[in-house]
Amino acid sequence: MNWPKTLNILKKCLKNFHLASLLAPTDLRIFHIFSQYLGQLNLGALVIEGKTKAVYDIVDSPGHVLLQNKDRITAGDGARAHDMVGKAAISTATTVAIFELLTNAGIKTHFVRQESDTSFVGIKCAMIPIEWVTRRIATGSFLKRNEGVKEGYRFSPPKQETFFKDDANHDPQWSYEQCVAAKLEVGGIQIGPHELDIMARTTVTVFEILERCWAALDCSLIDMKIEFGVNPETGEILLSDVIDSDSWRLWPAGDRRLMKDKQVYRELAEVTPEALDTIKRNFEWVAERVKLLSPKPHARAVVFMGSASDMPHCEKIRDSCKLYGVPCELRVSSAHKGTDETMKILAEYEGEGIPTVFIAVAGRSNGLGPVLSGNATWPVINCPPLSGDWGSHDIWSSMRLPSGLGCSTVMYPEAAGQCAAQILSLSDHIIWSKIRAKQLNTWIGLKTADRKCRKDK
Ligand SMILES: Nc1ncnc2c1ncn2[C@@H]1O[C@H](COP(=O)(O)OP(=O)(O)O)[C@@H](O)[C@H]1O
Ligand SMILES: [Mg+2]
Repeated sequence: MNWPKTLNILKKCLKNFHLASLLAPTDLRIFHIFSQYLGQLNLGALVIEGKTKAVYDIVDSPGHVLLQNKDRITAGDGARAHDMVGKAAISTATTVAIFELLTNAGIKTHFVRQESDTSFVGIKCAMIPIEWVTRRIATGSFLKRNEGVKEGYRFSPPKQETFFKDDANHDPQWSYEQCVAAKLEVGGIQIGPHELDIMARTTVTVFEILERCWAALDCSLIDMKIEFGVNPETGEILLSDVIDSDSWRLWPAGDRRLMKDKQVYRELAEVTPEALDTIKRNFEWVAERVKLLSPKPHARAVVFMGSASDMPHCEKIRDSCKLYGVPCELRVSSAHKGTDETMKILAEYEGEGIPTVFIAVAGRSNGLGPVLSGNATWPVINCPPLSGDWGSHDIWSSMRLPSGLGCSTVMYPEAAGQCAAQILSLSDHIIWSKIRAKQLNTWIGLKTADRKCRKDK
């Protein structure tokens, strides 16, 4: 064995996992020993290699794969392809930030963790060979396929299209019915209407979430392509592959001329080193901004309870807020018996300038909510802990308000947390994303329960 050469390759392999495939079997064994020694992954067989990345088994973690990005840019089903040093790291940074954002929102994805500058670990999936495209604005290939439609036409809800992944035939568009007719067998399940409906709805939800997030940075997400895989161990459909500057059209300030995506590469009359450099800088611009899409929450709910005995009710409100990522503080203050304290606490919260929804919890005669509402500029939600005997009478003290007040009333603590989250989501896209993803998961849960109940018949 040529030791210096082997060591050299090993070092490179540890930096770029995909080079491991160049090693001879003996060297590969040494690579694995080296990897373990240095706390690196022990890579197994190459599962699949595509145009922009290679996917490897991970020896010690059978259900997982390493997705290794390449320094390569391609377009037109690979007809145009160039090396671009640094692209793998830029793509990885973008994909990792986007998948963390989506996973945190509640979307089910294959993403596990970032492994290196140029790679990440995902759940090993059997991939569904369909590209799922969502469009807000008509542009590009849509205009060619739909003669007469003007560029800029706005789809509401977003337009959803499917393309069969087949480079040799230029990824033909498939209708819903064609997708059903194909009866694709993937990861132990057949892809039928149930699975297609779930993917279609997830696709639109993912688009809406990323559109809303980019809007916070004054960038318009115009359209986007994603892929799904099946986790063969659970049969679950997961958002897979990558989402990076290859996946979407992104127009800063909604201006097509400022586009920061791969379209710039597609449209080049001639691919010069300078043009490739501009594209790389665009991608870097995106990778840096993508990190700003997940800011810490700048919103909160504050629950005022008239008595500490209301604590269990208020804890349910706090749990509900948590589901939506809304920080929630609990305070004890009676507007009847400690009016000065109630006003002082209110002034402290309003003075901090963090957008806040106040939730008033007071049994019997609810003076707390209306008093807060009469003095606060921010929204107040009454959520009285209703007692069985007097509940239907007590509720009127929250609802029959003096003129000039605008507090609302909900009966259930879960609803109070959700209502606060929905108000705060007006200015916080992360909270909004969690609400959207939760609605999707509820919809999928109902649809799956319906199918089970029909199967059980
Ligand atoms: N979690 C996963 N498990 C297994 N394969 C995956 C996973 N995510 C993506 N892939 C597959 O990795 C392959 C390589 O990616 P890529 O280079 O983008 O290929 P392509 O040129 O086919 O688009 C694709 O076939 C993609 O479907
Ligand atoms: Mg691909």
